[in-house]
Amino acid sequence: MMRICICKDYNQMSVKAADIIQGIVKNNQIPKLGLATGSTPEGMYQELVKRNKEGLIDFSNTKTVNLDEYLGIESTNPCSYHYYMDEKLFDHINIKKENAHVPEGKSSDPIKAASDYNDILDSVGRRDVQIIGVGENGHIAFNEPADKLHLRTSVIELTQNTIEVNSRFFNRIEDVPNKAISMGIADLLDANLILLMISGKNKQGVVKNLLECQMLDTHFPVSMLYTHPNVILLVDEEAMEKVDDETMNKEIGIIKACDIL
Ligand code: GLP
Repeated sequence: MMRICICKDYNQMSVKAADIIQGIVKNNQIPKLGLATGSTPEGMYQELVKRNKEGLIDFSNTKTVNLDEYLGIESTNPCSYHYYMDEKLFDHINIKKENAHVPEGKSSDPIKAASDYNDILDSVGRRDVQIIGVGENGHIAFNEPADKLHLRTSVIELTQNTIEVNSRFFNRIEDVPNKAISMGIADLLDANLILLMISGKNKQGVVKNLLECQMLDTHFPVSMLYTHPNVILLVDEEAMEKVDDETMNKEIGIIKACDIL
């Protein structure tokens, strides 16, 4: 079941996501969060940092696991997801760094690094929530459109589309790694709640496809989230612009309006 929550704008979406995380962290002795990178969750992280400083949310017992990391760049490289997470969140909140996990992108043995990450996921256990963004081509984490999708954390070859889209974070497109290490679909789904966040004009196509798709499609990996019983899609009005009223008005089966706004 996917519940859809349409937010006025990016800011409202970020605040809503932070509210959900805050509730989960408050209500669990050892909260377990699955975290994501990219532009989409940045506003949510800012909000969480603010609330942590105000004493509204305490991360001292929280464990986190991140979705993915580029292969071949150091964690000190500002384009790495390690660096992103430190800069946007971990350095500013009272989480214990040993409880915050990101796959190892600079290992000389990436296959072992993937298997080690699966051990970490197994030891942390099922997450209370998993934040997920989506690529313009429908990828989730770095699970790219393909005939077959990995179940568990693996080494992934990035598509040209993803390299081009993500090159905005790098000085030159040649600097974008062509491989990454990413949780697989079974790992992504191993959470009590999936919070799928989608915002902005560039995601209009992917939202339309997601709401109109009638089948699971490995060439549209985000469709795999329909197999999870508890997904909240937090989406802003701009990303919804191409979805016609007909789709929204008719009974769209497994998609229901969300009552959290
Ligand atoms: C990257 C990440 C994904 C993320 C996607 C969308 O490819 N591996 O996990 O969801 O980008 O990013 P953005 O939020 O910047 O659009």
